[in-house]
Order: sequence, then C-alpha cells, then structure tokens
Amino acid sequence: MQRISERIMFLPPDEAYDRPLIGYVRGDSFSIAIDAGSSAVHVKLFHEALAEEHMPMPVLTILTHSHWDHSYGLPAVTGLSIACTETCRHLQDDINAGNELLYESYISEDYSYLRREYSSPESISIRLPDIAFSGSLTIDLGGIHAVLKHIPSPHTDDSTVICIPEEKTIFLGDASSGIITSDADLITGGIYHEEDLSAYIREISSFGAEIAISSHSGAGSMEDELGYLNRKLAEIRRGQ
Ligand SMILES: [Fe+2]
Repeated sequence: MQRISERIMFLPPDEAYDRPLIGYVRGDSFSIAIDAGSSAVHVKLFHEALAEEHMPMPVLTILTHSHWDHSYGLPAVTGLSIACTETCRHLQDDINAGNELLYESYISEDYSYLRREYSSPESISIRLPDIAFSGSLTIDLGGIHAVLKHIPSPHTDDSTVICIPEEKTIFLGDASSGIITSDADLITGGIYHEEDLSAYIREISSFGAEIAISSHSGAGSMEDELGYLNRKLAEIRRGQ
C-alpha cells in the first residue's frame, strides 16, 4: 500500500493491466474503499495488502465511475457499495448488453486490457451497487468525513469525486482524463471538450484540497493538477 497519511492509503495502479489504484480511508467507526477495481483478482490483491498493514476491511466501497476497470471487481468487495445514479445506470446498461457483447467490444486493435484481465466472456461478473445517490453526500467515518460529489468531467458523465476535508485530499478517479477510446489515448490523455473541462476545473477547485489522487497516476499536488488542466484548457481555446 502507498500511504498518504495515517488514515489514507491506496493499492498503487498497475500499468501492465491498466488497473487503477484502489483507495482506502480509515475512520474511527469504519473504513471505506474508493473503487472496486477491475476484477475479483484485483480486489484480492487489495485485501491482501490491507491485511499486511493490519487495516480493517472496508465496510463501504464508493465507485468513482462505471468504467469496467473501476467497477467489475464489485462482486468481490467486502460490505456494501455506493455510486451515483448515472454510474448505476451505466452498469445496468453493461449488464443488459451481456458479457459476449462487452467482451467483443473490447477485443479490438485499439484497446485490449479487458481481454488481459478476463480470459473469456463467461468469467466477467457485473454487479450493481447496493446504494445509489444523486448530487452529493457526506459520510461520517468517525473522526473523518468523506464528501462524495457527482460533478461534470471531461472523462464521463458519471464522475464522482471523493474529498476527505480533514486531510485536504481528494480522490478524482479518472475525471481529469479526456475521453479514452484506445491505447493511444491512454498516452495522450484522450479527447477533451472545453465546456466539460472548464466546469470540472471550477468544481474541483472548490473543495480546498491540497493533495489530488488520480486513479491511473497516483498522488500529486492539487496545484500541479490544476496547472496541467488549465494548460489543457488554454491549448483547446488556442485551437479554436
Ligand atoms: Fe475511466
């Protein structure tokens, strides 16, 4: 586990599988996980890392968005799970599409990570979160809070950020990325739209966080994060 503080840590991302980090926040009453990871194998690695640190298992898992690498580990998590209504809707769409279709959609020249994680369509298992929320929600973990907010983002329409105000730390999920449709987009950062990016910058600036944790790159300063995003915004505006 990579530690940010006594209370905040995460299982680092794994580029080889395009696995995002799985976050952990320890409260005095109970602990939470941020994201469910790509698969049951990914969740098992997270649980083993927590056990090594003698940390209690999470009672609640919060999804940052519906993308498979953040949500398909849900059947393996401990306790309950929660996501915004849009994330629940997207996961229901995935369930309705069926494993065969999902698997086929990711078996392309452009993006192959789902195939690396799952050897066959049958091995995919998707679950809906236990709880859906709209807008924002504050959870008291005991001695520390988690503020969940569904915000506009250049990445998806279902991005939830999780701020821990006492620690001035915010989990951004993939929300700082553009729209990703290929392996090449993972390197360039994807496609950005001005309106979404500018609304996103306004939203994340309002939390007063100093540490920003992004799912595929880990922790950095909020100042650097905003600097990067504002440069992207300036680039887009210059191009128009
Ligand atoms: Fe994503």
